[in-house]
Amino acid sequence: MQKAWFYEEFGPKEVLKLGDLPIPSPKPNQLLVQVHAAALNPIDSKLRQNPLAPIDLPVVPGCDMAGVVVAKGEDIKKFKVGDEVYGNIQNFKENMLKQLGTLAEFILVEENLVAIKPKNLSLLEAASLPVAVQTAVEGFKTAGFEEGQSAFIVGGAGGVGTVAFQIAKKLYNASLVVATTSTGKVEFVKSLGADKVVDYTKTRYEEIEEKYDLVYDTIGDSRNSYVVAKEDAPVIDITWPPSNPRALHSGLTVSGEILEKLRTYLESGKLRAVVDPTGPFSFYDVIKAFGYLETGRARGKIVVSFCSAPFRINGFCNTKMALNSEKLH
Ligand SMILES: NC(=O)c1ccc[n+]([C@@H]2O[C@H](COP(=O)([O-])OP(=O)(O)OC[C@H]3O[C@@H](n4cnc5c(N)ncnc54)[C@H](OP(=O)(O)O)[C@@H]3O)[C@@H](O)[C@H]2O)c1
Repeated sequence: MQKAWFYEEFGPKEVLKLGDLPIPSPKPNQLLVQVHAAALNPIDSKLRQNPLAPIDLPVVPGCDMAGVVVAKGEDIKKFKVGDEVYGNIQNFKENMLKQLGTLAEFILVEENLVAIKPKNLSLLEAASLPVAVQTAVEGFKTAGFEEGQSAFIVGGAGGVGTVAFQIAKKLYNASLVVATTSTGKVEFVKSLGADKVVDYTKTRYEEIEEKYDLVYDTIGDSRNSYVVAKEDAPVIDITWPPSNPRALHSGLTVSGEILEKLRTYLESGKLRAVVDPTGPFSFYDVIKAFGYLETGRARGKIVVSFCSAPFRINGFCNTKMALNSEKLH
């Protein structure tokens, strides 16, 4: 058996329970991964609050994870037991959400959904990336964004925003990347490489004179933010439904290939994982972590740590020891 967070009814974070579930066995095309870290995403809360996609209860929430392959099906070619992998295990587009999400000690995942963890990143950092990276990459593709263009990112301090402006700068050599955030996070967003930061508590979109080749809106404010786009420039809104009929909605493609393609950028330090310093939250504090996510005030990604270093033996997590120790605190 394994420890997992799950819910048996839809509702607020308090419906989450920690309990024992069987450790699943991999099908021929699946890996069994021992999760060392998971990241939370707003979609985890939205799916828990309302039945947005067809899924049977109980549900273990969670999309993002990093961990170690502990077993594999006979058709697996790319990975071996002991590999450190990371990925988003939930396939939203095909509406095939897994009941066993990443807030469990062990998960099953198809090999095309994960990639080998970049060498320089910790498992915690790696877990923070997949959904945010996949969303940001798709957004720039949907927009037809081109090398050297300028971008205006609404919500620069959030999970997607912190990755989006880095991708604009480092993958597209954007000529100018501007991001919005509130006063207390201006320096934080600047430190991640935004050319300019607009404090939205002090400056309205209408007061911004410059116009941009792309508005990438991560907070669902496209009905207002579109005014900083050049006349025929795309306005991307990643929330659903977009608040402006002019905006294009952009989703994400769940795939390990995207992560693999970005490996050189991550290993060279051009792209950075941004883990919210309020965390990492312990596996026992998942409800607290969701409480923080649901304030809507995260800085980068909220990460849950399953296993701190003293409890890793030869790279594997001695979960029983780690969990017992967490209980003592
Ligand atoms: N379409 C897709 O496939 C897809 C994929 C991923 C996420 N999403 C959606 O995209 C949204 C963002 O996701 P996320 O993971 O980035 O969320 P998040 O990390 O929870 O976003 C939190 C951030 O939003 C910022 N924010 C809130 N109001 C703002 C405002 N008026 N102006 C500028 N920034 C503001 C906050 O900064 P301040 O504290 O400074 O306000 C905070 O840093 C969610 O609705 C999520 O469901 C969609």
